[in-house]
Amino acid sequence: MKTATPRVYRNYYRQRTANQWHKIQAEVGDPGAIRPFLAGNWKMNMIPLSGVALAARIFDSCRDIKDVDIGLGPPYTGLSTLADYIKPDFLRTEYGIGRNVFLLAQDTFFESKGAFTGEISPEMLASIGVDRVIVGHSDRRANLGKYFGFWSSVSRRLSKSFLTHELDHLKSKKGADIQVLKALEHLTAEGNQDVLEGIAKFLEEELKERAGESDEAIQRKVQASLSKGLQVILCCGENREARDMHETFTLLDRQLRMGLEGVSQRTAAEVIIAYEPIWAIGEGAQAAGLEQITEVHDFIRNLIMDMYGEQTASSIRILYGGNVKPDNIVDIMNIAGVDGALVGGASIKAEDFSQIIKFGLIASA
Ligand code: 13P
Repeated sequence: MKTATPRVYRNYYRQRTANQWHKIQAEVGDPGAIRPFLAGNWKMNMIPLSGVALAARIFDSCRDIKDVDIGLGPPYTGLSTLADYIKPDFLRTEYGIGRNVFLLAQDTFFESKGAFTGEISPEMLASIGVDRVIVGHSDRRANLGKYFGFWSSVSRRLSKSFLTHELDHLKSKKGADIQVLKALEHLTAEGNQDVLEGIAKFLEEELKERAGESDEAIQRKVQASLSKGLQVILCCGENREARDMHETFTLLDRQLRMGLEGVSQRTAAEVIIAYEPIWAIGEGAQAAGLEQITEVHDFIRNLIMDMYGEQTASSIRILYGGNVKPDNIVDIMNIAGVDGALVGGASIKAEDFSQIIKFGLIASA
């Protein structure tokens, strides 16, 4: 029986011809070779000791794997304990793994310190050994609105009494915006009560569905993290509605241009992009189709080429996320523009995540 060798991962250069990107086989260690990156986002799961136990099981299954980058992303509370466990010397002697294990934080704030109760700064993350930070995950961009209650004061603010009060206040001030005054006068006029209530309901629903981190906040997080030496995994992705309305590319263009604004070409080398279509994430959803992934990854790489030139475009890593599992990882990694995966549910199952890390072995089996 043929024994599988762990060194089957493709390290590759990428070459562009006629608007298509191709992976080119390259020897391990070749300058410019791109290493696949399999990253686990544990989301809000695992107490610290369970996280270490999970990591130990993953490493045990992935002995001698050196040719891919592995990312483990526990919640904030698990970072320190895991940082102590994944020291390179220990991993080398115990599991034959090299310096290819990276500790990921799931988020950060953009200020260094101060009165920001509950937030964690990039400096704090760097000080405990975090290597990379996920920024702009859709759980934070869009899905938190329903929990954070941004909508809760909309009805009160769109009531006739509140708006009349605001109108009187604005009228008494110099330099109030004429357009705002006119709109308030219109909305508070007799007979417009129904319209106000309708707008309030509409906005409440919108905010529940969508309110979350803004592109501006994400941009500041990207810049703050990079300036403190953390590498950034910048997430982007459209929801079902944007896809149905053929707005995917417009939306991704905005998310990425805004997210990367102010990031120089040199610093862009410290950025990894993760494309995670929201409709493909989580239990009950299905991974995006191979053609859909191909098309979007090509779009993103061309966008990066437009922003930073060919060299950056051919070396930046673009991960796919959304129901990546052992049974689809090989097909996904075979796509020319895919350089790795950001994995949610399957990353907290030792057996599944190990298989994902060893996709090269599955491919050659
Ligand atoms: P799933 O793999 O559970 O779909 O989650 C993807 C994700 O959001 C990773 O960041």
